[in-house]
Amino acid sequence: MKRIAVLTSGGDAPGMNAAIRAVVRTGIYKGWEVYGVQHGYQGLISGDIRPLGNRDVGGIIQQGGTILGSARCPDFETLEGRQKAIDQLKQRGISALVVIGGNGSQTGAYELNRMGFPVVGVASTIDNDLFGSDITIGVDTALNIALEAIDRLKVTASSHHRAFLVEVMGRKCGYLALMSGIAGGAEAIVIPEIEIHPEDIASEIRRAYERGKAHALIVVAEGAKYNAQALADYFKQHQERLGFDVRTTTLGHVQRGGAPGAYDRILATRLGAGATDAIAREETGVLVGMIRGQITTTPYSDVVGQQKPLDLSLLDLSKSLEQ
Ligand code: F6P
Repeated sequence: MKRIAVLTSGGDAPGMNAAIRAVVRTGIYKGWEVYGVQHGYQGLISGDIRPLGNRDVGGIIQQGGTILGSARCPDFETLEGRQKAIDQLKQRGISALVVIGGNGSQTGAYELNRMGFPVVGVASTIDNDLFGSDITIGVDTALNIALEAIDRLKVTASSHHRAFLVEVMGRKCGYLALMSGIAGGAEAIVIPEIEIHPEDIASEIRRAYERGKAHALIVVAEGAKYNAQALADYFKQHQERLGFDVRTTTLGHVQRGGAPGAYDRILATRLGAGATDAIAREETGVLVGMIRGQITTTPYSDVVGQQKPLDLSLLDLSKSLEQ
């Protein structure tokens, strides 16, 4: 009987549990045994691995986070660490591994695969910066959480005629900022992909007030050269000249902790099932993602090290709406 294992790694994302459930249940449906690895690559190295049955993954599809736990694991970056991980899997007769995670996790998975152990990745990160999937698990839920905060901040901003800086996550990728800015009707959006000076943002805020707006809301990506803190410091320093008062909200990990919405549950279920289908076809060394609505596999050699482009025409669209 075939035996596979599944782990979650890197930053957790809403929908990871739905993906675990899909891997376990579709694996068992295929007649295999499925093992769960606790705490990502750390648990793989230390052998924190246990069998998972259908009931072990019951009642988790609606839960955020990951029942397997996750970790960022420096030991796995060494050849020795990766060899230990492979030994742990082989000792248990496990012949393939599913890695649910984002960029860093899939880079580790690629290394494992290059060392001869069959791995299939499932695209999961709120950053949406993973090449090989138009959208990744957790993005939609994180976006909706950010949006709820933006909507609320707009209300209080309007009451006080204030400007607000709202910082969203995304590492070096501006996807979350761009999309939450568009959906939240932001007066300006700051992303890492396009450098913009604080003075230009100040002009946009002033223009918003001149157009009669009661507030100015600027969505800032954490990875931008001038993040929310840097912008706030600049505005404070020049407050008298600029003529507006600014408040800052950093959403941080709040964006990651939510219960997955319908979109993420379905995406995660399809991608998790896609991973066991790929293993059944003996197609390993690939990332399972969704491209143009279809579940696809992309070889790790094409995924790792690639920069996923952000559609900057959407930034132009947002500018045309800031009226
Ligand atoms: O990659 C997901 C992410 O949430 C990023 O958006 C963020 O920069 C990072 O993880 C935070 O990492 P940690 O949870 O280790 O603080």
